[in-house]
Amino acid sequence: MFARLSLAANTTFARAYGREESVSWRLPDSSEHGDATTTIALSAAKTIGKPPREIAETLAADLRGVEGVMKVEVAGAGYVNVWLTSVALVDELDETTKALNKKPASKDPPVIVEYSQPNIAKPLGAHHIVGTVLGQALSNVYEHMGFPVLRWNYIGDWGTQFGKLAVAFEKWGSGKPVLQYTLDELLDLYVKFNAEAENDPSLDSEGREAFRKLEQGDKELRAFWQDVVSVTKSSLADIYERLHVKFDLDLGESFYEDKMESILNEGKKKGVFVEGEEGSLIAQFAPETNLPPYLVQKKDGATLYSTRDLAQMRYRIDTYNPQEILILTDIAQKLHFEQLVATCQLLGWTLPPFENVLFGRMRFADRSMSTRKGNILKLEHVLDEAVSRAREVIRTHRDTIDTRDEDALAEMMGVGSLVYGVLSQNRKQDLVFDWDKMLSFEGNSAPYLMYTHARACSVLRKGEHKGDFTFGKNLPESLSSAERSLIQALLAFPNALEESRKTAMPHILANALFALCQAFNHFYHTEAILKAEAKLKELRLALTALTAQVLRTGSSLLTLVLPDQM
Ligand code: ARG
Repeated sequence: MFARLSLAANTTFARAYGREESVSWRLPDSSEHGDATTTIALSAAKTIGKPPREIAETLAADLRGVEGVMKVEVAGAGYVNVWLTSVALVDELDETTKALNKKPASKDPPVIVEYSQPNIAKPLGAHHIVGTVLGQALSNVYEHMGFPVLRWNYIGDWGTQFGKLAVAFEKWGSGKPVLQYTLDELLDLYVKFNAEAENDPSLDSEGREAFRKLEQGDKELRAFWQDVVSVTKSSLADIYERLHVKFDLDLGESFYEDKMESILNEGKKKGVFVEGEEGSLIAQFAPETNLPPYLVQKKDGATLYSTRDLAQMRYRIDTYNPQEILILTDIAQKLHFEQLVATCQLLGWTLPPFENVLFGRMRFADRSMSTRKGNILKLEHVLDEAVSRAREVIRTHRDTIDTRDEDALAEMMGVGSLVYGVLSQNRKQDLVFDWDKMLSFEGNSAPYLMYTHARACSVLRKGEHKGDFTFGKNLPESLSSAERSLIQALLAFPNALEESRKTAMPHILANALFALCQAFNHFYHTEAILKAEAKLKELRLALTALTAQVLRTGSSLLTLVLPDQM
């Protein structure tokens, strides 16, 4: 960004101080501070041995002669702020236009993004939306920027709970085949098992025994398990479709069943896995790590979640040699992954860059959305609630909303509001969901994004504009402050994309889109677009077209679809 300014500033540093610098410029936080700003004078002051303001003045003096520079100011402790001419500023929009295009996938090894990871035989809970859409958005951003991505659903399809479910099915099942069960019915069986087991502890050992048999390949239990997996996967498919979520692989925990023994042997041989209580196996870590021991095999020889995660890491490294692995989970799994990584290191494995992308807990401001004891709040139910609330909103705004297909719009807006409710929040904090905010037409919400996009499209339709955003050289001498702010909001897009990717925080992109909506609406209310004189009209329509496209592309990376009309 601002290549010409960087070149000029580098030259100043070479000439005045004999230093090789690569000076970077960024957009100021507020358009009052110009179009581009740099802190180089502050950061280089120490090594150069001169006061920052003096360096800033030297730089400013040189910049004043650079083509495309309209005004330069030294501010505060030594910031250099630059205002560009309209031609130079509009030229910068090239970067934004380029960032709209999806880069072809490189030939590099893949980035593995693991997300959603539901457990079989249970419907998706409301909280699953967080990791599911965060993971999808991150995958989309990576892919857009030319990284080959493997989107991985690591399904929880193995473990003692299947033994329990099998026992419950046997004892209290209705007699119909598993394939005819709904997920809710399967969940009921599981809940009943747990309730009964509180009074009758022998049930638990029956459950464990059934799972042991399943592990050993019992034919009937295998067939039962397989059917449970099918019932679950087909019900997941519906929700994933509504959320625009897609995976390349759904290899779950069961896949690693035959890949754990060799790892257990390797660990024993290397002295990493040692005997814990009653013949179990554990990994222990150096005291300074502060990590508690990691149980990798139970005393009855059964493997665990941890054992499968070790196998999963080994398999991914051996099979894909990934350039990076991201695993999205909520904060509750932080310790588990720290222990996992520490264990891999003790085993002497070379791991690719790995991040456990953590997110906070989800909470509804509305008390009616909390769960009663023992019940899970189903995601499907929450999505339906969102759609019916969106329908209400559409009906109350009947006078301003113009749509031919109310059902489609309600689905888009309802689901979109929840999804955007996740992606516009900083994932590192607890995520709070407030229906009024999510469905508002004014704040940082999906409806606001949709409405702004539809507004831009409507301007283009009325102006019979084809939506292309090439900017001619025939530009007005000066830009209004609304135009300048809009251009700056458009310029923020490429950087927001890259920052979202690097930090695994899609809310950075969401915030940039929100700021763009605000700048566009301000521009729309301040400037005449269609009635402006020819030269201005051309510029303003092109800015409108570019705004619409940035909103569309950015939103689609966040899994949202925006209507052209509403
Ligand atoms: N299925 C697990 C759960 O619901 C999450 C899996 C996270 N990923 C992993 N590789 N352990 O708790």
